[in-house]
Amino acid sequence: MSVAVVTGGSSGIGAATARLLASRGWTCVLVARGRERLEGLAGEIGGEAEVCDVGDREALEAVARRVGERHAAVQLLVSSAGVPGRGGGFTDLPPERIEELTRTNYLGSVWALRAFLPLLEAGAPAHVVNVVSVAGVYAVGASGPYSASKHAQLAFSRAVAVELAPRGIRVHAVNPGPVRTEGFPQESLRGTRLDRFVLTPERVAHTILRTVERDRPESYAFGAYRVAGLVQAALPGTLSRIAQQRRRRRASRSRSE
Ligand SMILES: NC(=O)c1ccc[n+]([C@@H]2O[C@H](COP(=O)([O-])OP(=O)(O)OC[C@H]3O[C@@H](n4cnc5c(N)ncnc54)[C@H](OP(=O)(O)O)[C@@H]3O)[C@@H](O)[C@H]2O)c1
Repeated sequence: MSVAVVTGGSSGIGAATARLLASRGWTCVLVARGRERLEGLAGEIGGEAEVCDVGDREALEAVARRVGERHAAVQLLVSSAGVPGRGGGFTDLPPERIEELTRTNYLGSVWALRAFLPLLEAGAPAHVVNVVSVAGVYAVGASGPYSASKHAQLAFSRAVAVELAPRGIRVHAVNPGPVRTEGFPQESLRGTRLDRFVLTPERVAHTILRTVERDRPESYAFGAYRVAGLVQAALPGTLSRIAQQRRRRRASRSRSE
């Protein structure tokens, strides 16, 4: 039976992915900080729970050692643990939150891959999926620190994919747009025309599985979001001016209300 480690496996995209994998016969090791939810889902899908903060490198290494005592190899690592920036910018978000975004969203995937690398090599051909975001290819205005953590996670993903290919490990990035989950409730989109583009975690879970099965380096869950990164790369000045104009309009609207 194949073994998958899913960080952030107690909620949202990670939980939906673990459920999908379990329904296809995978044994899932779920990793997150909150014990109750984690053990509840692990029990439901016949998986295993490992309570751990992915930003804590040594704790993750200890988790990998414990998993190695139970399983000779791991065939799939899904790094989905992540925290939102709640729309905060570089000058208004508390510094501790900027550190947490970096530690969890970016370094969490680096430490997870490094900790599980020996087990992934033992399981080769094996796969790693980093759940990044469209915010990893596109950054304007609000949510800058979140975007920066996702840009770093995507750069890590792309670079390490080249490093690990000769060792039989394929690294993939999945870049969803808005998905309604506990950490990312997408309140600002409710009642707007954009709300119909908000995805379910189950839809992203299917994209993750398809990305592995079809061996795609990067996927978007909703293809139109691919354009966002292309537009920013081609027209950074234009996009920045549009974002500044929208910001000014929003500020003057809220002053006149
Ligand atoms: N939802 C969206 O709109 C969206 C869009 C693009 C990308 N993403 C990305 O998708 C990933 C999953 O997000 P989600 O929407 O599924 O959010 P979610 O429902 O809030 O789930 C986040 C998961 O990560 C775990 N987690 C958070 N911090 C952790 C830490 N330091 N160590 C270990 N586990 C941690 C949480 O459990 P504990 O709190 O118990 O630790 C939970 O299991 C994130 O990387 C996010 O950036 C989300």
